[in-house]
Amino acid sequence: MTKTSPATADLTLAEKVSLASGASFWKTEAVGAIPAIHLTDGPHGLRMQADGGDHLGLGGSLPATCFPPAAGLSQAWSTALAGRIGEALGREAQAAGVSVLLGPGVNLKRDPRAGRNFEYFSEDPILSGALGAAWVTGLQAQGVGASVKHFVANESEDDRMRSSSEIDERTLRELYLRPFQRVVEDARPWTVMCSYNRINGVYAAENHWLLTRLLRDEWGFDGVVVSDWGAVDDKVAAVEAGLDLEMPGNGGASDALALAAAEDGRLSLAAVDRAANAVAELALRARAARREVTVDHEAHHALAREAASQSIALLKNEDGILPLARERRIAVIGEFAEQPRYQGGGSSHVNPTRVDVPLEELRTRFDRVEFARGFTTDDSLDAAALRAEAVATAARAEVVVLFLGLGARQESEGFDRDTIELPADQRELLDVLAATGTPIVVVLSHGGVVRLAPVAGTARAILAAALLGQGGGAAIADVLVGAANPSGKLTETVPERIEDVPAYLNFPSENSRILYGEGLHIGHRWYDARDLAVTYPFGHGLSYTTFAYSGLELAACDDGITAAVRVTNTGTRAGREIVQFYVGKPDSAVRRPVRELKGFTDVTLQPGESVTATVLLRRADLAYWDLRNGAWTLETGEYEVHAAASSRDIRLSGSVAVVGDERPLIVSRSTTLGEIMADPAAAETILPLLAAGTGGVDAAAGDTLGMDMMRMLASIPLARVAQFGGDGGLSALLDGTAAEH
Ligand code: BGC
Repeated sequence: MTKTSPATADLTLAEKVSLASGASFWKTEAVGAIPAIHLTDGPHGLRMQADGGDHLGLGGSLPATCFPPAAGLSQAWSTALAGRIGEALGREAQAAGVSVLLGPGVNLKRDPRAGRNFEYFSEDPILSGALGAAWVTGLQAQGVGASVKHFVANESEDDRMRSSSEIDERTLRELYLRPFQRVVEDARPWTVMCSYNRINGVYAAENHWLLTRLLRDEWGFDGVVVSDWGAVDDKVAAVEAGLDLEMPGNGGASDALALAAAEDGRLSLAAVDRAANAVAELALRARAARREVTVDHEAHHALAREAASQSIALLKNEDGILPLARERRIAVIGEFAEQPRYQGGGSSHVNPTRVDVPLEELRTRFDRVEFARGFTTDDSLDAAALRAEAVATAARAEVVVLFLGLGARQESEGFDRDTIELPADQRELLDVLAATGTPIVVVLSHGGVVRLAPVAGTARAILAAALLGQGGGAAIADVLVGAANPSGKLTETVPERIEDVPAYLNFPSENSRILYGEGLHIGHRWYDARDLAVTYPFGHGLSYTTFAYSGLELAACDDGITAAVRVTNTGTRAGREIVQFYVGKPDSAVRRPVRELKGFTDVTLQPGESVTATVLLRRADLAYWDLRNGAWTLETGEYEVHAAASSRDIRLSGSVAVVGDERPLIVSRSTTLGEIMADPAAAETILPLLAAGTGGVDAAAGDTLGMDMMRMLASIPLARVAQFGGDGGLSALLDGTAAEH
């Protein structure tokens, strides 16, 4: 879908070409009436660099609100919250003169070791797409464009600028493209950022199928495709394939290549026009949307803190040890209590306007707090001495609040982890503290999943605090003291051991190739299919109150399935429950995960209160990608629907009949007898021809031999049947023509 812009009508070829690459690190080119616009990172805060620029978060940037990164925010499972954060980011971007914020990242957490998981929402495509679309809608309502990234199959950092993600189309469509499709179709982002990597051998930036046939022709995208910073290998191939804007600018080097190619016909003028028009339209749209905005940083900090509070997941709370009474004598242990880890490293690194420090916040909420550092993340102090001090502190306390997690050196953009273990000194610290007998509450800060089996076996309570942004310290203290009731739930499975993870044998790349060999089975889809024990399942999170589910009602409708369930707060505190709906189709014609998340919502209830949580399980989300027909297909038949508190805590199940897409069987030379027999219309036409030619397929003959004749014959293609001779006209029917039934 090429847009024509009146603004480019009078431009020279050289001017058009120059629009298609940046003028500098963060700005586009100004040409004639077309203004330059400013793009910047993204996604959980504004990384606005005053001078120069870098894409690794090395240089300084202006202060901005640091909202929870996606790994934290996703745990709130709230599209409303994601939308409000998008709006707040839009206000900060407007105030800074930024027209495009480089986010959200909707790649999937295929493997817990992937270095950039902290910047992505989930292992699940439906959740990632819904949160991403809400975030983009909020942002763009402020007149600032989004750049949904990294398109696509960029699920690891290792060798990311060369490696090829080898994926079959069904997996690509149903998992990795799905969140992008949702964002593009529902939220119409102004830009899409193509990734560094190759997909099945072809760089994303040069992938015509991806950038043109799929994104524009199928999904109707009408914005700008921008390259990830430095992702263009072959400028001419990229523009031809559908890339509009190459970033950052490289002093005219790419323009010269493109101009020469356009002049001698190696680059089509249509592609040059497409890119120039798209960039011109973006710049004009951005200028029209410019407005004066004053940012209320206090209000944004309050929002960051509210978001952090909703994003904390309580994984364990033995004997209701939490919340803690303010009179308890508390030993706060761990470097992260004093030097919180609240965001990831790399291009998304924000310079926060302020940071709530957990230790300080705890001191205002509890009367008796003692602190010991316990460990360092940079090995700068003697580990044994720190442990000894921590043990002495714990021995004097009634409860230990132990902050564990990953430091900035241990996970970041740019590299993957080779383990999911907590650092050894932290594990050792946990053991020696456990030996004191003082009950331990663990607070975890990290972007990627860590193995929790040792923690779960030792701690009385665990708060998964992920990365929570600048308001995280206050949010954690509120939850510990009970001023806030935790309501977050995990958006990534915590496996028992690294050997259990779906991509264990295929991660990371080898010889610049990453085989997505586990196919459709990542995250909960994998653990459920293999019936593997997990430490904490996808979707898990407790509350200081309890919820009961009743009266599941399911109804098929034009748009999919309406699922409704009554949720009652059966405890003594107000609380929020995230209600999840999983769908399975055990009799599917194709291999499918046992059950998959297809919808979710949240309800906030006073003690004793009930409400009906209703969700539309969208038709598009129930469909599978049919490789034979090259189309999304919704199967007709019964679907199992589970209302659940987590992927492993299914509260109610039911089934509902759905009328799907009727796809006539295309009968060709390679259609098998089994496929014909399974299709009544085809069987009616074809079987008589076969019977006439062969004297009849005598299934009864098989019976006498004690064989299931029909199963034996099922895999024979029609063309081969015809070869046996005397096919009663079948050959004529198949000869060059396909019949539809
Ligand atoms: C990252 C992008 C980022 C860009 C600009 C790249 O290295 O992959 O996510 O938006 O740099 O900083």
